[in-house]
Amino acid sequence: MSIPLSLDVKYLAPEVTPDEVYAWQSFVDFCHEKLHGHTGAGSDFLGWMDPSAMIPTEEVDRIAKTAQELRANSDILIVIGIGGSYLGARAVVEAIGGAERSRVLFAGQNISAEYHKELLECIENKRVAINMISKSGTTTEPAVAFRILRSWLEEKVGAEAASKLIVATTDASKGALRQLADEQNYTTFVVPDDVGGRFSVLSAVGLLPIAYAGIDIKKLVAAAQACSEACMETDLKKNPAYFYAVVRNMLYKKGKDIEVLASFEPRLHYIAEWWKQLYGESEAKENMGIFPAAVDFTSDLHSMGQLIQQGKRNMFETFVEITGGEPEVVIPKDPANLDGLNFLAGKTLFEVNHEAFRATALAHREGNMPNMSIKLGRLDAETMGAMLYFFEKACAMSGYLLHVNPFNQPGVEAYKKHMFALLGKPGFEKETKELRELISGTEGQEISFD
Ligand code: PA5
Repeated sequence: MSIPLSLDVKYLAPEVTPDEVYAWQSFVDFCHEKLHGHTGAGSDFLGWMDPSAMIPTEEVDRIAKTAQELRANSDILIVIGIGGSYLGARAVVEAIGGAERSRVLFAGQNISAEYHKELLECIENKRVAINMISKSGTTTEPAVAFRILRSWLEEKVGAEAASKLIVATTDASKGALRQLADEQNYTTFVVPDDVGGRFSVLSAVGLLPIAYAGIDIKKLVAAAQACSEACMETDLKKNPAYFYAVVRNMLYKKGKDIEVLASFEPRLHYIAEWWKQLYGESEAKENMGIFPAAVDFTSDLHSMGQLIQQGKRNMFETFVEITGGEPEVVIPKDPANLDGLNFLAGKTLFEVNHEAFRATALAHREGNMPNMSIKLGRLDAETMGAMLYFFEKACAMSGYLLHVNPFNQPGVEAYKKHMFALLGKPGFEKETKELRELISGTEGQEISFD
């Protein structure tokens, strides 16, 4: 089974060579056994490993049909969610949604008053549909945004019409959102029990907004499925996800504890945001883990480029490289040539951008920055489906190689408990009192400089 992506590893040496990667084969076999035998840590959350079982064809069809109906009845879909319930959809819509991406707006990923005020202004004269996504149904940020947007919509079109324009993606049976959706008769889709948020992009969580943006979700899922079959291989010479997972762990052991995901396509910005959550939340625990950072080149070459070229050598870089399929925008000849750019006349922007990539990868290698490239022939539903799955599978293997549970996120609870206590949520009375005392005890440390 072939995958529409490949790895260019020529700039990993001398820190890592393919032969050194292959020497990890028995460790990889051991972790593969745990993953596929469902005997490793977090094995209750492996539903994403088989995309076609997680999202059967009939469900893909139902999602596509619902998206089509929503598109016919609205100008804008507001997707409400946070973290894993939002980033995957945004990543794919931004990357391959083309002009349709302007029809999909996002809320619930922050609690900024200004953001929500501007959002309400922006949709004022639009026909709006809402996809509220929350597995737990109780996450504060999306729940607050939903309360605001739902009451706005109900006021606009009436409660009955609004209930036909709201789709809830949530747990099959429990949680506040499930209860509300059942009461209000919303169309619903299920977040599978055995799939964590950051691995859910290829379930209804990601697929409904993606389909609304006019993207072929059948192709996306089929490509992910094909990649999942290819990534069943344990052989490091055949499985790019496992190869990438080993490279990351080898570099981490050599003190490279920051990975920079870099691309020369601004429309991949949210892929990097999705990737940051996937790897940050999966691996960074028990005082371990690589810090996942991301840059958008060439713009960030004029800011972070200095740090990457000559800063502390505790990083490595992974490029997402697109090798074709881009629109042809030609640089014109200018008879005056005052800017001295006629040597570029007749070349396409894609050619120039690609040479910028090649120059950067080489320069960073010369600056002792090990780097590799994930090469995609073009950017479309097929390569996107394969890449999403590739990163997920690599993440699972990488976590096991690091001896952590890649499928939990105990650390994200800490701020929530404090926030609930400070906001006076019922049930948190003791913590509310303790935290208010603690915080007021530090007030004298605020320094003003007037
Ligand atoms: O990856 C995760 O599990 C988190 O990012 C969650 O998706 C996020 O916190 C949202 O949770 P929920 O879908 O329950 O609202």
